[in-house]
Order: sequence, then structure tokens, then C-alpha cells
Amino acid sequence: MPMPGLMSGRAGSVEATEMNAAQAALAIEGGDLPFGGGLLALVRPALNLLESGGVLAVHSRVAGIADEFFTWCKVEHHELLESTPQVGYCRLLIRKGGLGAPRGVPEQGLELRTRQGRLDASTVLESVPFPPSADPATGFAPRGARVEPGGPVYPFVLNDRAHTAPPDVAQLYDQAVSAQWNADTDIAWGRIKPLPAPLQQALGQIMTFLAENELSALYVPSRFISRIHPAYVEVGMFLSTQLADEARHIDVFLKRARKGGGGLGISHAATSASLHSLLVLEDFTEAAFLLSVLGEGTFLDLLRFIEDNAPDEVTAEIVRRARADETRHVHFGMSHVKHALQHDKTLYGRLEAAVRRRSATLAGVNGVPAAVQDSLTVLAARGTDAASVARGHEKFRELLHVMHDNRVKRLLNAGFTPEQAQTLSDLHTPNFM
Ligand SMILES: [Fe+2]
Ligand SMILES: [Fe+2]
Repeated sequence: MPMPGLMSGRAGSVEATEMNAAQAALAIEGGDLPFGGGLLALVRPALNLLESGGVLAVHSRVAGIADEFFTWCKVEHHELLESTPQVGYCRLLIRKGGLGAPRGVPEQGLELRTRQGRLDASTVLESVPFPPSADPATGFAPRGARVEPGGPVYPFVLNDRAHTAPPDVAQLYDQAVSAQWNADTDIAWGRIKPLPAPLQQALGQIMTFLAENELSALYVPSRFISRIHPAYVEVGMFLSTQLADEARHIDVFLKRARKGGGGLGISHAATSASLHSLLVLEDFTEAAFLLSVLGEGTFLDLLRFIEDNAPDEVTAEIVRRARADETRHVHFGMSHVKHALQHDKTLYGRLEAAVRRRSATLAGVNGVPAAVQDSLTVLAARGTDAASVARGHEKFRELLHVMHDNRVKRLLNAGFTPEQAQTLSDLHTPNFM
């Protein structure tokens, strides 16, 4: 007696030939399996292997099975072409319908290759690349899955590769995963020594400012993750590592303010206005440009300045580690913006307009928030005598030039003209972020 199962990839077996099933691409030997007691578990996957219009042969020894299939095929939009009952045996031919059939190409046979036993996200992306565009009606179906029609349309708005997914995003995700550090155990908090009062106060203020800006870097990308189509899930995965990074930065900066930094300082209205203008952005690329290219880009220089002038190794360590993370965030912003600009030349105008709009919103913000400026000066002075403070002030002025020059370089790298780059850098918020 034949065992239940899929018989052949092509109807070339004895049974199939007998039943005039030249048109059947696959055949199922159902044996004594009842219709609702296991036979469908063989039939449905077999139909899934067929294109719409393909024919499946089913052999069964169950009495009355043809009636069951007749009703089922109607409901599932398949066609029962033929049923040939014989004594104790029935042969059916089912033509697969188009309606309700999962869409997409089966991933059967896909086998990922490991590299030295490892399997990173970049390798997966090479085998299952981003589609140029994605359908919001495929919902949370992972890229590569075949999707049964009829699901709801999801509120994703980032549905095209050009404006969503730069080609190196999986690589950045892999880097981020291996570069995670621990704000509790990786920092030698016990080594912090008391500082002179003015320096301690300056440090508390700087850390307050950093943490406040880090909060915006946590909130702004988080607003876009749920708008990204899951076909580009690596973008959401990368942004999730960025959120983890920003959470860690907030954590270490607040700890440093409260451990030997005299507690938190002032949150300025100018900083608040600047960060609010980031939070209200509705366009992903504009947000990546303003936050990551211009804002976090400028922060790289600020963090380097704090590291170079840090009063102790713990402070230097936390800003060095934060800067390494920020370098990755800036890299993502640059990649995202450059990739979008390659595909959409109107974007230059839109990004310039976004900088101008933000600058107009911040018209009342005339310079670096006062307490931040003073604290960075004191930090760089390392003392409060007149000569040291003058030197600290000079270093702070130099920092502003370095920030401007590096912003211009990034803008040139993104493809802006030298004039545009100068103008956009000048219009960037004096709050740095
Ligand atoms: Fe950060
Ligand atoms: Fe960041």
C-alpha cells in the first residue's frame, strides 16, 4: 500500500500516467488520510509550490473525498478539474486558482553561506537584497516570504529603497552590534577624583548639555522606525542600535554629572528650541540630514574637544566611546542622504529649504548657550586665572571654526556646491545639534 505523501515533482509515476494526469505538475498520495485529518496538510503546501494555473493530482482511498474537495476548492478559489472514483479509490485533479494564492517567488533552495562559521546581516542582505519598492499591504511579512493577499494596508510611508535604505546599512548594523559597550562595567567610575569647584561645575553643565542633546538623538530616529517598510528592516535594525547607543550616552553623561560633576546644570531655552525643531520634522531624509549629518557631525568635534581637554581619564573615556558610536551615526546619515540624493536630484533643494526653515525658526537663537560656552572655556582653561581663561576662550573659538570646516567638508562630500556648503554650514544651529 502506498504511504501518504508527495509522490513526484512531475506526474510521471505509474499512478499519474494511469489517471491521464499529463497536465499535473505534482501528485499527492493521500492513502487513508481523512480530508480534515491530515490530507489538507499535504495538499496545501503542494499547491503552494505551484504557480497559479498549475495542476495537482490527489489520490485517496477515503470514501466521499471528492465532495469534500468540491466544496473546499470553491471556497479557496481553486478548480476541481476531475474526480474519478473507483472501487475504494479516488483520483482528483485540482487546478490552482490565482485569488488567495501567496504572491512572490519561493525561497526554496536558498542557502546562506557562513564566513568562518559566522552569519552577519550583510551576508543575508547579499542573498536577499532590498526591493526597489515595497507594498504596504504586505504588512510585517519578512522580505522573501510569499504573501497571501487580503491583509490590511499598513501605515508605512518609507516604501522605496532610494529614500529609505542605503546599500551599506547592514554593514553598519553589523559594526554597531559588535561595538556595543557597557555603561556600567566598561567605565572605571571608582577612579573619579574630586575636581576644583569651577571645573566640577563646568563639567556638570557640559554633561547636562550633552545628555539633553542625546535625548533628542534618541527621540528623533525613534519616530521613523515604525514608518519604515519591513522590506528594509535592516534600516530599522540599525536605528535600534542607534537608540541603544543614545540611551547609553544619556546614561554615562548623567552619571558623570552626578559623580564628581556637582549634579546637573542649566537646560537653556535656546537648546530646547533647537532640539524641538528637530523633533517636529516629518521627513526621514530631512531628519537624517539635520540630525545626523549636521548635528551629530558637529558633535564629533565637540566630543573630541571635551576628550582633549578632559580633566580625568574617566571623562575622556566616556566621550571617546560616545564619539566612536557617533561616528557610526554620522556615517549612516551621510550614506542615507547621499544614496537618496543620487536618486532624487530635487532633494538638494528640499534639504537646503529644510536648513533655511529651521534657521528661520531659530532666529532668536544668536549663539552657543551661555553656560555651555562658559563651561567649555573653563574646561579648556583648566584653571580660573586670567591667562588660562583667555587661552580656554581662544580654544573654544577655534572649536567653532573646526566645526564649521568639518561641516563644509561633509556637505561637499554629499555633493553640495562649495557656495551651498558654506551657506548651509553658516545657517546651522549655534546649539551644535
Ligand atoms: Fe549619542
Ligand atoms: Fe548619535
